[in-house]
Parts: sequence; C-alpha cells; structure tokens
Amino acid sequence: MTHLQVKNLSVNFGGLKALDDVSFSVAKNEVFSIVGPNGAGKSTIFNVISSFYKPSQGQIFFDAKDITATRPDEKAKLGITRTFQNIELFENSSVLQNLLIGRTIHNKHPVYRQFIFDKTVRNSEIAHREAAEKVIDFLELAHYRDDLIANLPYGVRKKVELARALCAEPSLLLLDEPASGLNPEETEEVGHWIEDIRHDLGITVVMIEHDMSLVTEVSDRVLALSEGKVIAQGTAEEVQNNADVVSAYLGSA
Ligand SMILES: Nc1ncnc2c1ncn2[C@@H]1O[C@H](COP(=O)(O)OP(=O)(O)OP(=O)(O)O)[C@@H](O)[C@H]1O
Ligand SMILES: [Mg+2]
Repeated sequence: MTHLQVKNLSVNFGGLKALDDVSFSVAKNEVFSIVGPNGAGKSTIFNVISSFYKPSQGQIFFDAKDITATRPDEKAKLGITRTFQNIELFENSSVLQNLLIGRTIHNKHPVYRQFIFDKTVRNSEIAHREAAEKVIDFLELAHYRDDLIANLPYGVRKKVELARALCAEPSLLLLDEPASGLNPEETEEVGHWIEDIRHDLGITVVMIEHDMSLVTEVSDRVLALSEGKVIAQGTAEEVQNNADVVSAYLGSA
C-alpha cells in the first residue's frame, strides 16, 4: 500500500529550478532513500512535504489524501515527522525536556486547563512522560536523560534529534542525513536504529543520505536526484551503477 506519493513536484527559487517534475511513491513500512550530489534538491523535497516550501507545481498524497496545502502542524498530527540536516534542538534544555517538546502535538487540552493542571491534564502529562521514557529506552539514551544538549557530543545530539522525532509517534519518518558528521561506528549504529524503527515500530522511513554504505544496508529502494531531476530509481546497487548517477557525481566532484 502506498503511504506517500509525490507527484510531478516542481519548486522554483527565482530562476533556479530546485525541483523539476519529481515523482515517486513510498510503500507502507518501506525504507526509501534519496541520494544525489550537493544542491540536487533533496532537502527541498522534505521542505515541501513538511510545508516549509510551497511547490510551484505538483501534489503530495499521504495515504491517498492530498496534503499539498495542509499546514505543518496538521501534517505532524497526521503522522509525518522529520529530522533536520543541521540538528535543531533546544541547547539549554535537557534531553528529556527536548523529547517532551516532541510530544506537544499530542497535547489535546486547551491552555487554560493546562494552567489549572487538573487531574486529566496531570494524567496526560504522566502519559507524555511515559512515552518519552519509552523512546529513551528504545534508543538507549537513559545515561543522558538529564544532560543539557549543549554538553552532549555531536553523535548523541544526532540521536536525540531522532528520539524527539520518534516521540511524535509518526507513521512516516523523514530523516535528512542521519549519518552526516558521524564516524563509521556511529553510522553503523544508525543503520541498526533504522532497521529497528521499521521492524519494531512499524514506521515508514524516507532517508536522505550521502553515505552509500548506509543507504545500501537499509534501503528497499533508492531514488537519485541531480539538479532537481530524478535521474534513477531502483535498488541501491542499480542506482549506484547507473551511468547518469555516476556522471552526476563525477560532475559535482
Ligand atoms: N530557501 C531557498 N532559497 C533559495 N534557494 C534555495 C532555498 N533552499 C534551497 N535552495 C537551493 O535549491 C537547491 C537545492 O537545495 P537543497 O537544499 O534541496 O539541496 P540538497 O540536495 O539537500 O543538498 P545537500 O546535499 O548539500 O544538503 C540548491 O541550489 C539550493 O541553493
Ligand atoms: Mg540537504
């Protein structure tokens, strides 16, 4: 069953065509990767899916529903969550506090009730805390629970960003370069988390990534972009051996 469908998507920035008629679909519970040289338009796809950018043409469907014009917070409620290429966390808050922020889309009570902090609100706070603790256990972050983000090594911050995304309980997780800046050991670990996220949590993953060993390890299918256009789609091996992909990377090197 198709979970996400991107149809004839184009994005223009002035005269620059960041995306040019891009189409692809992702099945439920698939790990789908997007590769391509710097500036190919990969993050722009995520920015359109999460409504940061408006497309000049094309549509996005989520479970067959047209969500092209849906607000970002509504998309989060539907079950779409992302991480950022540059880590976006609250530096002077703890790991747990950052994860609780990831739960805010599940806050159903009006502000005045949260102010009164009655029993219902208290119970939901407990439920949020339990959900965050589950993610802490899942990603083995217990050791860092109360540490400030600013004091954590880069690799742990990357993991906290992933944890915050999981706290939203998405059905579709968009990962923008989860292994960038990580050493080979940490990158291998990311591969294991992605496998667990798919198998244990049943989440569909779309991943933008430059590390081809990670892409090959976890992806069912891969899409290659260059200068805003789709140049290949297939298994990791097929895409890596595609002549247009090889020349796009050589051209950018
Ligand atoms: N807000 C913006 N305004 C103007 N140009 C933009 C904007 N966002 C992206 N671009 C341009 O669109 C093109 C695609 O950018 P994008 O960030 O999607 O590339 P990418 O494939 O994610 O690259 P990288 O691998 O370096 O992250 C680039 O030429 C970029 O400079
Ligand atoms: Mg990018």
